[in-house]
Amino acid sequence: MSDLAFVNGQIVPLNEAKISILDRGFQYGDGLFETIRVYHGKPFLIQKHLERLEKGAKEIGIKFPPWRKIEKAIEEILNSRGEKILKIILTRGIGKRSAMFKDFKEPSLIVYTEDYLPLPENFYLEGVKALLLPENRSFFRHLKSLNFLPNLLSREESCQQGFYEVIYYDQGGFITEGTITNIFFVKYGTLYTPSLDLKILPGVTRSFVFNLALSLGFKVKETHIRKEGLAQFEEAFLTNSIIEILPLSSINENCFKIGKLTLNLINAYRNAVLNL
Ligand SMILES: Cc1ncc(COP(=O)(O)O)c(C=O)c1O
Repeated sequence: MSDLAFVNGQIVPLNEAKISILDRGFQYGDGLFETIRVYHGKPFLIQKHLERLEKGAKEIGIKFPPWRKIEKAIEEILNSRGEKILKIILTRGIGKRSAMFKDFKEPSLIVYTEDYLPLPENFYLEGVKALLLPENRSFFRHLKSLNFLPNLLSREESCQQGFYEVIYYDQGGFITEGTITNIFFVKYGTLYTPSLDLKILPGVTRSFVFNLALSLGFKVKETHIRKEGLAQFEEAFLTNSIIEILPLSSINENCFKIGKLTLNLINAYRNAVLNL
């Protein structure tokens, strides 16, 4: 079956879905989004994604639709037991160019699916390379906002140089995250990940992997990691909802092995989603 989109109450085939050019998301990136993996028809950790969306909407003053409305929209467009990507977009709504927040009574809600296309398996077996770049994003980078241009520009810069992802460092020289991923490191059997006070996106996968590692008996620490200190780590990996856990083979000149701990977690993650 072809993919469907829910656009402000209407369900249409994805390739016919349209929004108004007066939508604030289109005009100013004034909105938020969530990207969710759907395993054999079931959206994974949907509750956590909706919680993050609701929290973000509250922070920037976008009226949050009733949960049931979003859940119903998802149910209606998930028309197969296929492997999909589900995207939810919530914007401040449609209004005049000069309108103030108080003038927006009805947010725009868009929900749609598209096919999930896996990365080549050798990415997971051999790891991918990342490039260190200084943060070019705003103070609001902890929100999954539609203002994604800085991330896109950095990722494009890294791709053109043959890298898969960027690893950002902030003004203090601390590692924050990737353009579309959170990051974990391994040293002597303990996992380390940049803490949320660095204004990173609180990744749903980051949190899931954090707890998965604890349940497997590993120690996990949220911390501040200096970009000059990367050589101390033996393993490193990226996380996000779509790619799950992706090993890093290097960040600039710092090389990592695809070690036991990373492979253990990849297996545990894959097992967790197998029988949803
Ligand atoms: C900047 C950034 N960090 C981290 C992530 C990972 O978040 P999640 O695990 O919720 O998919 C994303 C996802 O796209 C992201 O854009």
